[in-house]
Amino acid sequence: MDVYVVVVTAFWAMLPAYVPNNAAVLAGGGRPIDGGRTLGGRRLLGDGKTWRGLLGGWVAGVTVALVLTTVAPDGSDLLGVDLPEFPLAVALAFPLGAMLGDIAASFLKRRTGRERGAPFPVVDQLDFVVVSLLVALVAAPSWFLETFTPGVLAVVLLVTPVLHVLTNVLAYALGLKDEPY
Ligand code: CTP
Ligand code: MG
Repeated sequence: MDVYVVVVTAFWAMLPAYVPNNAAVLAGGGRPIDGGRTLGGRRLLGDGKTWRGLLGGWVAGVTVALVLTTVAPDGSDLLGVDLPEFPLAVALAFPLGAMLGDIAASFLKRRTGRERGAPFPVVDQLDFVVVSLLVALVAAPSWFLETFTPGVLAVVLLVTPVLHVLTNVLAYALGLKDEPY
């Protein structure tokens, strides 16, 4: 299979799952999702997971999915790749899955004694990928299998951690994030 096609498809298909985490950094603040509740003496999720971040991240991801779907036909001609469109169920569920993955990781981090912002290698980089893909698979199985071929999935799993680290270093350098991971 053509590497160019697979890489372009992977990036395009993952954009609605990539954007929410970054949008949450910009939108975040205010009331934490766990409302300050604790479990076993530690916060359930912590102050890094807020309602505003969740909503802002989700809305941003859905918007990206809808915009990409609108421009997919022209984009396909331009790039010479048959770019995937996002059915409404996927446009709604995929970014939500990304945010839920991030929240699940925070839950796991708190249970393993990691304070807010502590690094958790691999989990930090892939939490949102794994959960968003699972949610998309459940929401639209045939769309998922058509879009995320084994080659595309392999590129997603290899390239996402690199992109994640790069965007977080950039957000840190711009003063948007407290830690570069
Ligand atoms: N954020 C938010 N709500 C979310 C996700 C993220 O408000 N649902 C914002 C918070 O300001 C958070 C920042 O985005 O501090 C960076 O997100 P992340 O790295 O996921 O959170 P951390 O602060 O590192 O906390 P954790 O250790 O729980 O991941
Ligand atoms: Mg963090």
